[in-house]
Amino acid sequence: MDKETIFAQSTVNDCRIITLVRNAHENGSLSVVENNSAIPFDIKRVYYLYDIPGDAERGGHAHIENQSLIIAVSGCFTVTLGDGKEQRSFQLNRPYNALYVPAGLWREINDFSSGSVCLVLTSEPYTEDDYVRDYSEFLKLTAPKR
Ligand code: TYD
Repeated sequence: MDKETIFAQSTVNDCRIITLVRNAHENGSLSVVENNSAIPFDIKRVYYLYDIPGDAERGGHAHIENQSLIIAVSGCFTVTLGDGKEQRSFQLNRPYNALYVPAGLWREINDFSSGSVCLVLTSEPYTEDDYVRDYSEFLKLTAPKR
């Protein structure tokens, strides 16, 4: 799909929480993310945010092709997603919940708790060309929905 089609069709209704398997034991828990039918894309990259000040605002962009899974592996934070028409917010605070974020959505991440770690698994390698960082450009691309 081309960029215009992706942004014209993206919807926050396609976001969802994927509950990961949780191996809970008295001496600690373990969850796994691997490429299987529970995950909507093949994982190509992993990065994580840490040392995040409580008043930080991360995100502030949309992706053209890249899809993500976002996991609060420690602590909690809020992810707000917009499709140019509607917004949805998710408070992530469980290491076994992964938020699926399709392409074409504006994302903001804030309200980080002290010591929180935000793990992101993605469908594409990193390239700055995949970003829309200008909100007015995002609004133009999503104009067909309004
Ligand atoms: P960015 O995606 O804007 O972070 P966030 O959405 O969490 O606010 O990336 C922050 C910086 O890190 C930016 O200069 C690009 C760089 N970066 C990489 O070099 N590789 C990566 O895989 C990612 C995600 C970012």
